[in-house]
Amino acid sequence: MTVATKISEVRSAIKQWKADGLTVGLVPTMGYLHEGHGSLISTAVKQCDRVVVSVFVNPTQFAPNEDLEAYPRDFERDKALCEKLGADLVFHPEVSEMYTEDASTYVEILSDMPKQLCGKTRPIHFRGVCTVVSKLFNIVQPDKAFFGEKDAQQLAIIRKMVIDMSYGIEIVGCPIIREADGLAKSSRNTYLNAEERRAALCLSKAVKLGRELTAGGETSSEIILSQMKALIESEPLARIDYVEAVDGITMNPVEQVKSGDLIAMAVYIGKTRLIDNFTV
Ligand code: PAJ
Repeated sequence: MTVATKISEVRSAIKQWKADGLTVGLVPTMGYLHEGHGSLISTAVKQCDRVVVSVFVNPTQFAPNEDLEAYPRDFERDKALCEKLGADLVFHPEVSEMYTEDASTYVEILSDMPKQLCGKTRPIHFRGVCTVVSKLFNIVQPDKAFFGEKDAQQLAIIRKMVIDMSYGIEIVGCPIIREADGLAKSSRNTYLNAEERRAALCLSKAVKLGRELTAGGETSSEIILSQMKALIESEPLARIDYVEAVDGITMNPVEQVKSGDLIAMAVYIGKTRLIDNFTV
């Protein structure tokens, strides 16, 4: 497995692979890899001849008040996991390699899509995500790129960006990987102390409740969301950012849920903001 820190190194590896007629898969990450990322890498290894994993904590998707500096990093461990899972190249650039000091071009979806859900409290987040993912697409030129359903709004936005910008890349969505007790795996779970870790279960419990309600035929967003919110609010350490039902493609709120719609939440457990969701 090759570790590349320069864009030019990635380009020359890709050039060779394409000349050999091999297909290329890309798994973009911010590192501190866990089994959620691992499942994306394994899926990519199964579906593509060569797999590139990017490990880059992207500054443009963090607002000044967010956790860019505190975001957990352990590149040696990430590298070992990528190698074990069969990745061929890990791209781990410095910030200066990805963004020149006067970089001023962004990729931004101007519809309401990135303003819904997480966009309400993170207004510049998806502009940063689209910009860095575009750059990675241009650098790697993959046949397929793999994203987790854990970040459902991000996945929907990337799908939209690929259509709007004619990237010609197949976007593969991969299911949410959870801890044994239900908590969705996340690099940010490391911020939780023991008491918060227990409290964090209210997210997956709310997902379970929502699933049960919709499986039982309930379609009223108001009824589903109010019961999910009540469950979360019964946890003293939890503070709801949002719990919403939206169309699975446009991310616009829906009053009646139908198959394919998304029920998503962001909840603060202490100072840590966690997300979870399910598709109806
Ligand atoms: P990061 O949070 O590191 O996540 C990288 C990928 O792993 C995303 O597609 C995310 O949805 C997926 N993932 C994370 N936890 C998961 C879980 N428990 N189950 C399944 N998939 C999971 O998302 C980002 O990085 C960044 O925004 C990025 C796309 C790399 C752009 O900077």
